[in-house]
Amino acid sequence: MRIGVLTAGGDCPGLNAVIRSVVHRALTGHGDEVIGFEDGFKGLLDGHYRPLDLNAVSGILARGGTVLGSARLERGRLREAAETAAELAQQYGIDALIPIGGEGTLTASRMLADAGMPVVGVPKTIDNDISATDRTFGFDTAVTVATEAIDRLKTTAESHQRVMVVEVMGRHAGWIALESGMAGGAHGICLPERPFQVEDVVKMVEERFSRGKKFAVICVAEGAHPAEGSMDYQKGVIDQFGHERFLGIGNRLAAELEQRLGKEARPVILGHVQRGGTPTAYDRVLATRFGWHAVEAVHRGEFGMMTALRGTDVTMVPLAEAVTQLKRVPTDRMHEAESVF
Ligand code: F6P
Repeated sequence: MRIGVLTAGGDCPGLNAVIRSVVHRALTGHGDEVIGFEDGFKGLLDGHYRPLDLNAVSGILARGGTVLGSARLERGRLREAAETAAELAQQYGIDALIPIGGEGTLTASRMLADAGMPVVGVPKTIDNDISATDRTFGFDTAVTVATEAIDRLKTTAESHQRVMVVEVMGRHAGWIALESGMAGGAHGICLPERPFQVEDVVKMVEERFSRGKKFAVICVAEGAHPAEGSMDYQKGVIDQFGHERFLGIGNRLAAELEQRLGKEARPVILGHVQRGGTPTAYDRVLATRFGWHAVEAVHRGEFGMMTALRGTDVTMVPLAEAVTQLKRVPTDRMHEAESVF
């Protein structure tokens, strides 16, 4: 068989581990040939690809980013890809395509599959918000980076008796804020799933100071926002590429807390640091398993599906199921976190 692989959307630690695993399983397990399209679906449309053999993927397991490059494709070009999906497969002589990506990529993959391309998707996002899988690789790395940041911020906050507001990624779901906030022992967590009352954050910090504690760390997801009437905040804008861009809840909340509390507050925006660098062992293992299972699904002819983690097992689920709704943080998970503030 000849298998195409590509990485699309925002990058994520573990992408290279999937590529490596696909190549190893396909070549040594099945005697297949693998080609890698460059810069996501753009490479597929523009004919930019290269053969991937064992040497091409040697030494990439621990590397962040993606050796194939990644890009977000405009809607018009995606339609173009869907309309010519079957011809594209024929043009490259591929028997299957394995796109590795997040919500947008999986939606595009579903369009291609519906249009006749044999597709097996692999989900990725540091946000962990794809509902059809219990976990995505990249999430554990992001949580580890954010937890270390909170640990570090606590010592400098204590030295200066400050309030630190650390903003982590998570546009629509607050999984990174929830888990890094819990692991780092943040004193408050603000998530997109539940608009926060700034008065509650102020009260919590005052209560800590009245107990003799001289600092506080608040972990806020970039998509979190105040409840109506609680604080002035314009959430975001749509940029020229059609993506929602947030205006910085971390900066805004730190300024508001400084004013209301009369204490120094500092924002720390972790941003893309959470997406860069080497994946954790957990993410390397999950990514490697996803790659292995994607190739097996190709050989079983299970197209229009994607790999998913259910409990401890990797299984296949329809791409249609993957993109119907986002996995948000449920209320009971918030209660568990709040009990240790
Ligand atoms: O979807 C993953 C994510 O990391 C989000 O949490 C974040 O808002 C977004 O990507 C930022 O991506 P970029 O800056 O690459 O557009």
